[in-house]
Amino acid sequence: MGLKAGDNVLLPSFICRDVLAPFNELGLCINFYNVNELLQPLNLENEVKAKAIFVVNYFGFETYLSSFLEYCKKNNSLLIEDNAHGLFSKSKDGLFLGQRGDLGVVSVRKSLPVENGAILFQGPDNKSLQLEIITHSSIRLFVKKTMRLFVRLLGINFFLTLTKLKRRLRKSIYGTEVPVSSNEDELIIPMSPNPADIDKYFLTIDIDNEILRRRELFKLVGRILKSDHVRPYREQLEAGEVPYGFPFFCEQNEVERIKEKLKNNNLEIVNWPDLPSHLVENVPAFYKNLYIVKFLW
Ligand SMILES: Cc1ncc(COP(=O)(O)O)c(C=O)c1O
Repeated sequence: MGLKAGDNVLLPSFICRDVLAPFNELGLCINFYNVNELLQPLNLENEVKAKAIFVVNYFGFETYLSSFLEYCKKNNSLLIEDNAHGLFSKSKDGLFLGQRGDLGVVSVRKSLPVENGAILFQGPDNKSLQLEIITHSSIRLFVKKTMRLFVRLLGINFFLTLTKLKRRLRKSIYGTEVPVSSNEDELIIPMSPNPADIDKYFLTIDIDNEILRRRELFKLVGRILKSDHVRPYREQLEAGEVPYGFPFFCEQNEVERIKEKLKNNNLEIVNWPDLPSHLVENVPAFYKNLYIVKFLW
């Protein structure tokens, strides 16, 4: 794409730290722009001139591009669209999110029960979907998929108890219930691009059903949290939006209560994002108050 070591790139500061790794691996110079509470960019016109600017469609919701397109025009920059969260989500114009920039990426594993894999959109001349299929098999995936068959039979609580036991065991061995990120994750892409069983899992799913599943879950969680002290990132879905989860802002003293309430509905939350280490101390307070109700077990 014509980017070379030392070139400036501009990323949102509201970002997961591991997103930095590909930019760091290429030796690019990462600059950050801040976002407001609607997660739209603040004052892009005052930002450094960068060869590429990165826009994120947070949680599968459309981020409006007008200020990014102005920035790109003024600085002759590339627009990279991150739609890691929004598999199958579309803009008001009916384009897949991720398909609107010069380059777009979509994560598969965040929304479907696969281990890894991604979709790359390349534009503006070639807007086609490029899917590389590698039939490398995963035992972990096989076990998980088999277990899913038994959920209806044994009930979700059985599996939630199993998960709890697994996390306790992990904590006693590694010190944390779930893997935690490290500074290295900002510098190095953790594994080689080697999607597992993506043909079996991704190419055989009922897409309409998956879209319906995530949209209905969003509405359900909205109803569960309606009278609570939380501010949903979005109250409603646009026609083409397929959410990754149910994102909401919540003061830290309320989190445990909300967690408990969701647990009683067999739902789990995670705090997002795991911010880049050198930004953690200097970001707006609301950056640390965002939680997502997960839609994938
Ligand atoms: C906004 C965003 N982009 C990209 C990624 C990377 O996605 P993956 O881990 O599937 O490569 C993440 C991961 O957390 C993310 O939150």
